[in-house]
Order: sequence, then structure tokens, then C-alpha cells
Amino acid sequence: MNCFNIFNSKTKKKSKSSPELREQQQTQSSKQATRLVKSTGSISSPRSIPELYREKGHNLKKFSFSELRIATNNFNRMLKIGEGGFGSVYKGSIKPVSGEGDPLVVAIKKLNRNSLQGHKEWLAEVQFLGVVDHPNLVKLLGYCSADGERGIQRLLVYEYMPNKSLEAHLFGRALPPIPWITRLKILLSAAEGLTYLHEGLEIQVIFRDFKSSNVLLDENFNAKLSDFGLAREGPQGDRSHVSTMPVGTYGYAAPEYVETGHLKSNSDLWSFGVVLYEILTGRRAIDRNLPQSEQKLIEWVKQYPADSKRFRMIMDPRLNNQYPLDTARKVAKLADSCLKKNPEERPPMSRIVEILQDAIRESGNGNISEITSVAPSPLPEPSTRRAVRYIEYWRHEVFFVSRGCFRDHARCESQFLFIIL
Ligand SMILES: Nc1ncnc2c1ncn2[C@@H]1O[C@H](COP(=O)(O)OP(=O)(O)OP(=O)(O)O)[C@@H](O)[C@H]1O
Ligand SMILES: [Mg+2]
Repeated sequence: MNCFNIFNSKTKKKSKSSPELREQQQTQSSKQATRLVKSTGSISSPRSIPELYREKGHNLKKFSFSELRIATNNFNRMLKIGEGGFGSVYKGSIKPVSGEGDPLVVAIKKLNRNSLQGHKEWLAEVQFLGVVDHPNLVKLLGYCSADGERGIQRLLVYEYMPNKSLEAHLFGRALPPIPWITRLKILLSAAEGLTYLHEGLEIQVIFRDFKSSNVLLDENFNAKLSDFGLAREGPQGDRSHVSTMPVGTYGYAAPEYVETGHLKSNSDLWSFGVVLYEILTGRRAIDRNLPQSEQKLIEWVKQYPADSKRFRMIMDPRLNNQYPLDTARKVAKLADSCLKKNPEERPPMSRIVEILQDAIRESGNGNISEITSVAPSPLPEPSTRRAVRYIEYWRHEVFFVSRGCFRDHARCESQFLFIIL
């Protein structure tokens, strides 16, 4: 109950000098200081991701193209498990990195050769994932970069996540609904991954593409964040933000970031708020198949405030009323605090973790370190899966900004080029 008071009190009348906010700023600046000291033992600038990568990147294995071709049976279509903006993802099997023991099942992402967005994202992914190390971030095992007669080949080899993405479970009708407690635990583990990126590293990392399709699930429904292609180092020293060309996925990106290109860790908080509402309602951030007034999730939910009687009406019908209403209201209030217009009023990730831990306790599961195991459901036939994926692929949308105006488009790589250059 108390968890929400601090955020409830952050109304418009709250000035920048309010004690909670000062405390939050102090905590953040002391974290920044810790980061500085952690780097070398004396006060100096934190090292950049490329610098850290030079130190830690050797943990990644460099695969040859033919190794990965063999691992995926020549990129057999039957082994294809997904498709995103970067290219196709295959299930494969490689020799263990140590060289001993049973073959290791992996996910191999292969850049489309005509993909224009690919190389820069591939490089960012290798560098960030070569540096970070956390149970709630997907593990990159290695990569392949080959420039041969057949053109450029860029691939990434990850630990295999057997339970697909949060998106697939929330919106794919082929999978059974996820129970309330599992939803909360997915949120908590995703929040822990983001907390590590924002607060736990020598240099702050802003994920920039937090969304349900980038939350992958292991056999126990623990979440791991994937896709670091858009990740950025956070601001350093006295800087309040980093200036970038706004990129991200339409429906998830923070409005102030879209408008100004000023990126802060608070932008990830907005995206987290959107995913909180996706989990509560079982609806996509943007769904063009719904009536106009319901297409934008965060606009629609405003008509059903967390404290109102009508609130229940937005809850995912697939939950079958099997959730504690009071806790659901608190999660909605948490989402509202992440979706504050003023980015400074959004709670830090570590606070979100605490609130979700409380919500799990209140929902009747005291042991928050143990994720409820939900039996994996049978997957549809590959052909059906491909068809579903294809439809979902075109439903996704990205936005791009051009001279101050932004529009949304069906995903199109040449449009995406505008925003990553
Ligand atoms: N490490 C992995 N283990 C198992 N499946 C994976 C893994 N990485 C990706 N996938 C599967 O591949 C799908 C496509 O992933 P990908 O990140 O390429 O696209 P996306 O997240 O749907 O879209 P975007 O390109 O916008 O990130 C995922 O939804 C997931 O089902
Ligand atoms: Mg992805």
C-alpha cells in the first residue's frame, strides 16, 4: 500500500525541491559517483562501451559462417523461430564453447543481406552484450562477421530461450493465457534487467527499445531482455541527456524523446509503463484493428482510472477474473507513474522493482525468487506459425522523425534507415 504513496504525491503541485525528489536525485548522483569510483578506484570518467568491450569482449566466440550454416542445417526453414527488423532467427545446435559435452541449443539471428538497418545494430548488439552480464539479459555467446563472395554476412549466436516472447504469450492466440502471478514475475524479472542497465554498471545503458517482443522467456518464465541494437550509453558528468535522432517502436517511445531527441533513462521508464498496461489489459500498445478510440492503449486506459469503479473493464478478459483487484489497481498506478508527462516524475527502476515485489507478495506468493513454472504449451504447426508471424510482422510499426514531423508506417527497412543514420 505504502509503495504507491511516494508516486501519488508526485502531482503537479510538487516542486523540484520536494524532499522525495531531492532524495531521488541524490541517490542517482551518488550512484553516478559510485560508477565513477568503480571504474578505476579513483575519480575518473567511466569507460565507454567500446572501451569496456575491448576488455571483456574476448568472452564472445567468433564463429565461421560455415559453422553456423551447419548448426542450422543450412538455415533450414523448419528451424526458423522468428523474424524481426534485423532478419530471421533460427534454432540451431553448436558444439559447447568449452569443446566438451552435449551439443548446445542456441538461437542464431541472421541479418537479411538486403537489410539497411543491420550493420550498425549488429555492432551495437555485439558491443553491449559483450559487456553486460545479468541473469535478466539474454546472453550473447558469439557472432559471425564474414565478407565473402556472397556479400556481407552478419550473425549473432544467443542462448536459446524456449518460451518465446512476452508478446507471443500476451497476444498470440495459439498460446494459453499467462496467469496473473506469472505476469507479475515476468515484469519483475524484466525490471531487474532494466535496473541493472540503468543503475548497476560502470556506465549507464539506456535500452531504448523496451517492448513485449523484446522480453524473451526461459523455461521457468523468467524474462530476459533481448535486442541491444538501439541501446545507447547514458549521459555522463553534468549532462542531463544524450542527443540522438529519435528511434524506437511506435507506441512505446516516450513523447518527450520523440519530440526532442533528448534521451535519458527515463525514456525506458515510459516504455516500461506501456508494457505494464499491455500486461494488465492483454492489448497491444497500438492495435489498428480496434475502433479508433481504442487503438492507442495508453489513451484508451485513461478513461478507466485505477481508482475508479470502471477500472475492472480494462483488465484482460483472458485472466478470467483470477487476480486481486487491489493489486491490479496498484500495478495500474505504477504504470501511470511511469507514464508521467514530466520524465523527472517517473520512478527510478529500482523503485519499480520494490513495488513489483510487493505486488507479488500481495498476490499470494511470498517466495519471489521462485518463478511459477507454467507448463509449456504445444506450439502450432510451423506453417501456421509462419502465417501468424507474418501477420504480426506487418502489424508492427516503427516511427521515424524527419525535420520535426513524425509519422507512423508499416515496418519498412528503408524508412528505418532514416532514423538510424
Ligand atoms: N535468444 C532467442 N531464443 C529463442 N527465440 C528467440 C531468441 N531471440 C529471438 N527469438 C525469437 O525470434 C523472434 C524475433 O526476434 P527479433 O528480435 O528478431 O524480432 P522482434 O523482437 O519481433 O522485432 P524487432 O526487430 O522489432 O526487435 C522473437 O520474438 C523470438 O520468438
Ligand atoms: Mg526483438
